[in-house]
Amino acid sequence: EGESDLELITRLIRPFPDFPSKGIVFRDICPVLKNPAALAAVIDLFEQHVRQTHPLVDLVVGIDARGFLFGPLLAQRLGVGFVMVRKKGKLPGPRVSVGYTLEYGTAEAEIQEDAVSAGQKVVLIDDLLATGGTLFAACELMKQRRADVLGCLVVVELNDLSGADKLKPHSVFSLVRY
Ligand code: PRP
Ligand code: ADE
Repeated sequence: EGESDLELITRLIRPFPDFPSKGIVFRDICPVLKNPAALAAVIDLFEQHVRQTHPLVDLVVGIDARGFLFGPLLAQRLGVGFVMVRKKGKLPGPRVSVGYTLEYGTAEAEIQEDAVSAGQKVVLIDDLLATGGTLFAACELMKQRRADVLGCLVVVELNDLSGADKLKPHSVFSLVRY
């Protein structure tokens, strides 16, 4: 019997213990990007989910940096635009910012003020959910712009860190969980 799409994606994600610091198991998605069937499968699964669950989506919002690898591919499939949430200091023009903590540090996230408008319906996308600090910050930015977060999409979810609880009442759709 052949390997399913989800089995292929799961097989390609590699664990690196003690990266970037001791006690962290880093889940490396690079081999998924390198395998065209696996990357297409990721986007297929996200597309199916969004079409079924969030058919009224207006925009895909991706998180710096690894959310940028999947977000534009998904946005193109859905026929909607893509918006970047960037780390501080990278975007020109009027911006809104929010600070946050993540599994192995702290950072500040920004969007351009005109990137998302009041009432727009967005899905947020990133490669991985750990503590949820990063996606929570992105939700805060959407709230500041009065946009409507339909849900969050990630390739990998680290269950033990309860990131999905932190994001409530927003939903999290993940492909692979550890
Ligand atoms: C990683 C990952 C998520 C975030 C998850 O990004 O890509 O964005 O951490 O952690 P959290 O759920 O605890 O917030 P990182 O900040 O390392 O940046 P990068 O994408 O630029 O490598
Ligand atoms: N971002 C935050 N925690 C991570 C982990 N354990 N692996 C990969 N990316 C991460």
